[in-house]
Amino acid sequence: MNTLNHLAIIMDGNGRWAKLKGLPRTAGHYKGVEVLRSITIYANSLGIKCLTVYAFSTENWKRSEDEVSYIMSLPKIFFASYIKELMENNVRVMIIGDREKIPSETMRVIDDAIETTKNNTGLILNFAFNYGGRDEIVRAAKAYAKDYADGKKTDLNEESFKEYLYTRDLPEVDLLIRTGSEMRLSNFLLYQLAYSEFVVIDTLWPDFNNGVLDQCIEEYQNRKRNFGGRDETKSH
Ligand code: IPE
Ligand code: IPE
Ligand code: MG
Repeated sequence: MNTLNHLAIIMDGNGRWAKLKGLPRTAGHYKGVEVLRSITIYANSLGIKCLTVYAFSTENWKRSEDEVSYIMSLPKIFFASYIKELMENNVRVMIIGDREKIPSETMRVIDDAIETTKNNTGLILNFAFNYGGRDEIVRAAKAYAKDYADGKKTDLNEESFKEYLYTRDLPEVDLLIRTGSEMRLSNFLLYQLAYSEFVVIDTLWPDFNNGVLDQCIEEYQNRKRNFGGRDETKSH
């Protein structure tokens, strides 16, 4: 059995889902929020410790103002409807990304949820919101350079560098799922995904459900993780 402590998901395909149904893109994002709610509860019941979801990238500001402002209103919709259920299920909310550019009202709602759930010990629901992998690495490098200049740090290595990443307190990402068929990272967790297993599926995020997650996990369980080593039990 491969351990599955940290699952990351690129929740893609909301726009295509809406288009197929003749609905505005925002309808896809709304349905996506409902799917996230049920997947969070299910992932928690499976004993997964951390679920990191790509909700908004540093590149997503390029979209229309209407779409961006709708996405910025989603945390309010999500937490207003589901905070009670998240509490009942012992789920803790976290966020990674650049908080500065996020509208203050959106940030207030997110910070409230983080504060309300901070003592929960079940699944960590970690939102990558205004997150970019390159941005994260550059920030980490700058923060390290400052600590070095201040004489607080002398040695930099892979382990100590991790302390400067947003994910410093989270376990290694074991599995990355991308819905909506695209075989790319789109600037997600560039440092952290070094040895994660990838599963890309055609299912669009609004159509994702517990059964599809089960299938992804089954595929993950059939993978042989080598981490650069050699499988001594195989003769070839
Ligand atoms: C993912 O769905 C959600 C966000 C990027 C916020 P998309 O909106 O990218 O949906 P497609 O890829 O256009 O179908
Ligand atoms: C990645 O999806 C970002 C999120 C799911 C939040 P995109 O739809 O933005 O990615 P690209 O543009 O297809 O690479
Ligand atoms: Mg997309």
